[in-house]
Amino acid sequence: MRPSVLVIYASRHRSTEGVANRIASRIGEHGITVTVSEASSVPELDRIDAVVLGSPVYDQRWLPEAEELARTHVDDLAGLPVRLFSVGTFGDDKPLIGPLMKREPKGIENLCAALQAREYRVFAGVIDRHQWPYLSRLFFHTLGGRLGDNRDWGQIDAWADEIAGALTASGPRGLAVQSSGGVSSSPCSRA
Ligand SMILES: Cc1cc2nc3c(=O)[nH]c(=O)nc-3n(C[C@H](O)[C@H](O)[C@H](O)COP(=O)(O)O)c2cc1C
Repeated sequence: MRPSVLVIYASRHRSTEGVANRIASRIGEHGITVTVSEASSVPELDRIDAVVLGSPVYDQRWLPEAEELARTHVDDLAGLPVRLFSVGTFGDDKPLIGPLMKREPKGIENLCAALQAREYRVFAGVIDRHQWPYLSRLFFHTLGGRLGDNRDWGQIDAWADEIAGALTASGPRGLAVQSSGGVSSSPCSRA
């Protein structure tokens, strides 16, 4: 039987939704059944073989609905191979703004541990100047922040292909744990 993957996301301004949809359609290209769901309305998990769960980072946290979903379904999710991703300004590599923006979302280590996540990835998101209050924008600009759509579709596709490859090679529940590329020995602390 085809494995079935559920991609769950939270999103305020749709860039994470775009990442989730891209991951889903790419996994689907491998002949895997994929459902996409917002974190606030997740379907039953009983026929799901693997989960990908992602949230954007706002003020150094995942969105509340993603955290809430993880808390509410912790037992169900921990029984499945779960992969997590964050979307944020992590792509910024300018000397001043870069380190400030590369802070991991608070609580991600605990979340990863609670869900026994197989893997955690971080993707650069979209910085739309209209979404930032004036003072934040000024600060961001002054430090050399980079506005615009920084999503790296090649990187996102590559991860989706790895997930699909692991699912089809090992069977849905017996997935290999880690893959390379910015992932250290603890799935939630990046190299
Ligand atoms: C008010 C505001 C606060 C933000 N705070 C952070 C942050 O603390 N860390 C980070 O990496 N990105 C931060 N971002 C960037 C967002 O994570 C990024 O824009 C993301 O693509 C938004 O995803 P969404 O379109 O799915 O809501 C912030 C963006 C805004 C508008």
